[in-house]
Amino acid sequence: MKLAVSVILALATSSLALENGLMRTPPMGWLAWERFRCNVDCKNDPHNCISEKLFMEMADSLAADGWRELGYVYVNMDDCWMAKERNAEGQLIPDPERFPRGIKALADYVHSRGLKLGIYADLGNYTCSGYPGTTLDHIEQDALTFAQWGVDMLKFDGCYSDTSTQAKGYPRMAQALNASSHPIAYSCSWPAYHGGLPPEVNYTLLAGICNLWRNYDDIQDSWDSVLSIVDWFTANQEVIQSVAGPGHWNDPDMLIIGNFGLSYEQSQSQMALWTVLAAPLFISTDLRTISEKAWEILKNKLMIKINQDPLGIQGRRILQENSSHIEVFLRPLSHSASAVVFFSRRTDVPYRYTTSLAQLNFTQNALYEAQDVYTGKIRSLKTSDNFTVVINPTGVVMWYLYPTMHLEQPKQQSDTNFHPFAL
Ligand code: GLA
Repeated sequence: MKLAVSVILALATSSLALENGLMRTPPMGWLAWERFRCNVDCKNDPHNCISEKLFMEMADSLAADGWRELGYVYVNMDDCWMAKERNAEGQLIPDPERFPRGIKALADYVHSRGLKLGIYADLGNYTCSGYPGTTLDHIEQDALTFAQWGVDMLKFDGCYSDTSTQAKGYPRMAQALNASSHPIAYSCSWPAYHGGLPPEVNYTLLAGICNLWRNYDDIQDSWDSVLSIVDWFTANQEVIQSVAGPGHWNDPDMLIIGNFGLSYEQSQSQMALWTVLAAPLFISTDLRTISEKAWEILKNKLMIKINQDPLGIQGRRILQENSSHIEVFLRPLSHSASAVVFFSRRTDVPYRYTTSLAQLNFTQNALYEAQDVYTGKIRSLKTSDNFTVVINPTGVVMWYLYPTMHLEQPKQQSDTNFHPFAL
């Protein structure tokens, strides 16, 4: 009897567990929406409209300019790729003028450059921009279509559907994708339609069915927008930090670095904060014309190594200094290392912030090396040493911090001793 119960329990859990084995580290790539939106005017703006040409050119850039080798492998479509109606068989089809060769040919093109293609659909009557939605009766058919085209990822939005449709539809799409012949990573916008918090949002269920999920509002091309997302993620970190891990990630939305709304410092801040949050890195900018400064931030190898750390632990804000408006974030990494971000919310002048690792709750008495992720400079420090970092307004200083020597025999040896919050 006991055995029977545990077999049933195991089966019940396994049917919930994500079976695709994908995205063991946060996904990286390019996503059209923030920069290119629903521009379908190919007549007047052929260079920037949502068309196969745009995705082919982004694929060319990712492959030719060294992005792919750094891990940026997804070329992701968003809304507005579809024709306004399904075809006679009820299938979704791309707009014939903007995608004359069809999605299968686009996927082949992207694959031939060593990249992966992502697509967008919406669980509901319409997509958010008014294109055909995936109602419950179309879920299996659409999953099959995407698999037949060779698509590698689906962003499944939730406009124009109600709570009960979403509760049925998101798990059903997961099953349909898993049942298909082609591995398809699954990005769910479900929590963003329910305030991103329990009890409306069940993160245990989500982690079982989705590789990533949007928790909160859409990013816009502004610093205010970045700050509002960071504020939401920190205000709710007790709830959402622990639900992220290999194969299932919180998604604070796209990187807007390279566009029009962020200064250089703010661009560095978005990259550092997204990295410490173990966030997916989907660049939404024009890779054909990106500036050298944006390029450098997005291509920082140590940053990417931290983002892609195999432990997959999301970081937290560990300190908020109310008087100086300095905040400290920390992400535990493998090999007892940590990423530390000193973030200034100030809008006056560079601020000299003095602290010590002991004040940041590092308990292990050790000698550390701290490598500045942006400048590459390395300094050595002991747990009790005071140090000063100079943080520019709305900017960050980011460290990759690792112990080089224990200074006394630790009571208990484990990877977690060096990290100031329990894993
Ligand atoms: C919603 C999503 C965005 C984008 C648009 C497309 O707003 O949250 O990321 O996909 O729809 O219409």
